[in-house]
Amino acid sequence: MRRLLTLALIVLASLLFSACTAVAPATTAPSGAAAGDTATATATEEATTAASGGEAAAKDKFLIGMSQANKGEPWRQAMNDQIAAAAAQYPELEVVFADAAQNNAKQVADVENFIQQGIDLLIISPNEAAPLTDVVAKAYDQGIPVIVLDRKVNGEKFTMWIGADNQLIGKKAGEFIGQWCKDNSHTPCNVIEIRGLEGATPAKERGDGFREGIAGNPDVKIIASQNADWLREKAIPVSQAMFQANPDVNVVYAHNDPMGEAAVISAQNAGLDLSKIAFVGIDALPTPDGGIKSVMDGRLTVTYVYPTGGAQAIDWARKILEDKEEPPKTVVLETEQVDSTNAADLYTKYGGK
Ligand code: FRU
Repeated sequence: MRRLLTLALIVLASLLFSACTAVAPATTAPSGAAAGDTATATATEEATTAASGGEAAAKDKFLIGMSQANKGEPWRQAMNDQIAAAAAQYPELEVVFADAAQNNAKQVADVENFIQQGIDLLIISPNEAAPLTDVVAKAYDQGIPVIVLDRKVNGEKFTMWIGADNQLIGKKAGEFIGQWCKDNSHTPCNVIEIRGLEGATPAKERGDGFREGIAGNPDVKIIASQNADWLREKAIPVSQAMFQANPDVNVVYAHNDPMGEAAVISAQNAGLDLSKIAFVGIDALPTPDGGIKSVMDGRLTVTYVYPTGGAQAIDWARKILEDKEEPPKTVVLETEQVDSTNAADLYTKYGGK
């Protein structure tokens, strides 16, 4: 079959050559299967198709694979919901979701699976950076555009990253706490930190940023730091043990709202005066169980908006696939501090019901 097509191409080329010598080089230039597939196309059509990415240019349906680190957490479900809602506006985009349930090996397999399925674009929010780096690079090296959301991978082998600045969020939290400790005359001001999963980039960035933020007030001391992997269930026993070992805690810095809420419960169970402790979280989901409402109800003292980036990911996916737009390598999303002065307004602003 290939031979026949090649033969046809040669005949066509020689015919064209005799008709007009100027067109001949363009007709014979493309090599391999692509040239054979377009053997009947005119020289101009052939050149246009090749320049705009061959077969992809003719597509009117696109399959997007969304690899989620863990769907069990409300913030991640919100990300998936935003992706689904944004994609629903474009009938030509179909999104298939995979849930790695916080398992790196499962997430690697999910991405491999997507590659096998022939997805046109990959969106991934990686559980941990190092274990997911190679499979993301593999997809990218095969020419699949890759949008990395929120947590990062190592290196540069992805198309773009979309997320908020976790270092900045940590710094803002640290500065808030530096001031809160001053205002409440805590010298020293004892902080316990409940960290996110260590191999997930926001955990390091939120931890480092916080340390930067509290540097302005030398009375602020981090007296204990433990990992609860972002999970509320895990943060309950972890914070309970931390309160037992450190009865004079002034501040809890939790790397996300679910772990902050868990610390509130543990402090309550330990019989501590909650009004004397500052509870800090991050995420600020505008939902009845989310962080903004928690600040409104006086459980969390402060939290920070951490947008999921779901809508932006679909917006960019569409631009990459349909408009052939070259995206920026990094898109940084805005954050906002949520405290008792603005929580009610922000709940409305972010569409809370
Ligand atoms: C959900 C989550 C969020 C957090 C984000 C960091 O898995 O833990 O609560 O802000 O991941 O990547």
